[in-house]
Parts: sequence; C-alpha cells; structure tokens
Amino acid sequence: MQIIPHVPVLYREVLEIFSDIDNGIIIDCTMGYGGHSSMILEANPHVKLIAIDQDQTAIDFSTQRLQKYAERVVIKKGRFSSVIKEILKEYDIKDIRGILADIGVSSLQLDQKDRGFSFSSDNLDMRMDKDAPLSAQSVVNEYSLQELERILLEYGELRNYKKIASFIVNNRPFYSAKELGDALKHLMPVGKKIHPSTLLMQAIRIEVNNELGELESLLDTIEEAKFSGAKIAIISFHSLEDRIVKNRFVRWRDNCICPDEAMRCTCGNNHSYGKILTKKPIIAKDDELRENPRSRSAKMRLFEMDNNNE
Ligand SMILES: C[S@@+](CC[C@H](N)C(=O)[O-])C[C@H]1O[C@@H](n2cnc3c(N)ncnc32)[C@H](O)[C@@H]1O
Repeated sequence: MQIIPHVPVLYREVLEIFSDIDNGIIIDCTMGYGGHSSMILEANPHVKLIAIDQDQTAIDFSTQRLQKYAERVVIKKGRFSSVIKEILKEYDIKDIRGILADIGVSSLQLDQKDRGFSFSSDNLDMRMDKDAPLSAQSVVNEYSLQELERILLEYGELRNYKKIASFIVNNRPFYSAKELGDALKHLMPVGKKIHPSTLLMQAIRIEVNNELGELESLLDTIEEAKFSGAKIAIISFHSLEDRIVKNRFVRWRDNCICPDEAMRCTCGNNHSYGKILTKKPIIAKDDELRENPRSRSAKMRLFEMDNNNE
C-alpha cells in the first residue's frame, strides 16, 4: 500500500481556479507525488491531465497513485522547460485549458536523506533528476569563488555571502550537507523560524536544478504559444521566483510594449494576452498553515489568457 504524503499546498485554491474547465487538457508541470494531479482529475471528470516531473521516484510513485485515472492521464519524465515544447508538437494547442506549476522541491525529496536536500543528509547531491550532470558536490567543491559568491547572494540572499564563499573555498572538499552545515554554522544567520543552513541549502539547490532558468523558460514557452483561453497557475516558494512570475504576468496583461523611456506609444497598444486574476498572490489560510507548515512561504499567481490569442 502506498503511504500518501500530506496534502499539496493551496489545494483548494488550485481546484477553484480550474473548476470551470470541463473538457480539454490541463498540464501539471510539477506532478511530484500526484497531490494536485489526483485532486484535479477527481474534481474535473472530463478533463485529461498531462503530468510532468524530472524525478524518477516521483514518476514511479505517481504512476501508481494515478492508476485509477489511467485513461485520462499521460505522465512524462523530464524537465518541464523541454517537455512542454514536446507537448505542443504532440497535442492541439486549442485543447490546453490549464497549466499548473508548483515550483521547487517536494517534501518527500526533502525527507529522503539520501537525496542530499536536507541539512542532516550524509551526502551532497540535491539533483531532482538523479541523471542530471550537475550535483551539489560539484557546485560546492568545483565552483570558483566568484561563482559561489554569485549564487549565495542571488539565490540565498545571504548578507555575508563573501565570507561564506571564501570559507567554502578554503576548507573544501565537503562530501555531505551535514558536514557543510556544521562547518559553516558560525557564519550562518540565526533565525527563530528557520534552520541556520536553510538559505545556503536553498541557494545550492536552485543552482543545481537551474530552477530560475526552468521557470523563465516555461514562461517563455507560454508567452510564445499564448494558449488561448487557458488559465495559468504558478506557485512559488522563493521571492525571486515570485518576482519573475509577477513581472511576466504584468507584461502579458499590458497592451503597450513600448520601452519605458518612450515619449509616446508607437506599438499599437494592443499587445495584451489576457488578464491577471490575482492582484496580490494567494497565500495559505490559517487552517492550511496549521496543517502544513511548508505552505507558509507558498505564493500562487494566476493569469487567464484571452480567448482570441493568436
Ligand atoms: C513542490 S513539488 C510538487 C508537488 C505536487 N504539486 C504534488 O501535489 O505532489 C515539485 C515537484 O516538481 C518537480 N520539478 C521541479 N522542477 C522541475 C522541472 N524543471 N521539471 C520537471 N519537474 C520539476 C520536482 O521534482 C518535484 O517533484
């Protein structure tokens, strides 16, 4: 029997946004352990779901979990940046009515110590796809001082990123997340709510899995394809990701694409693809926060494409 991990984040809000879709295809770009996927399939009985994940463990788990809906599910392994392009070649774009991405690492990936995502892991891996070429060990032990500084600043927003990067370079190699975290304890910010190594681990993970690049590429593909009438829901856990989504949605909404410094509009003022459905991001309500502490940093933004996009 499968042990089903706890409920996915913002599940009620995800179901609500897709609730009026009664035919066609919804793409779940981050199937994980099939939480959102199974709920969408249950709530939308005439919808077909294409679910993507790059993690073989998630694929194996969810293939079994979604077995009940097998006739309406297609599961694809790979990074969503490339799989979504394949889907566009294979399916009629007009059938795609919804796209969901719940970006980031799953709680089961975090809990599997041998994956190296947790501070107490005995290894340094952090690859969501175990076959991917770049692991956390390569980042920590092979990146130059400047490269380490960049990721600690940009992705970890660590104030003393220079000290941390130079400590790593002077004391490496490191072979486990635990060893790295213990060695750097004295340089880590002390917060009440988060483990001292959280930001460091997050920065390395984002680099290993090219998480921001993946998100940008997904948004690029959606922008090119325009998906007439489709609803787009993106859940992120990091302010950088949320900013990327927010800015892109504003660009999609705006009619005018003239540069900011233009004195007057010359673009035709007719470039909007649709409307933003969330002025502010949706966040977890109190009862969800109590049930699932991981939801505390989740932010969901929604966009609805116009029906007549070409
Ligand atoms: C936060 S979890 C999703 C949980 C899922 N919504 C559920 O209900 O179980 C994110 C999942 O997306 C996958 N993932 C993250 N980035 C990906 C990418 N660029 N391409 C494919 N899968 C990705 C991870 O492997 C992980 O399983």
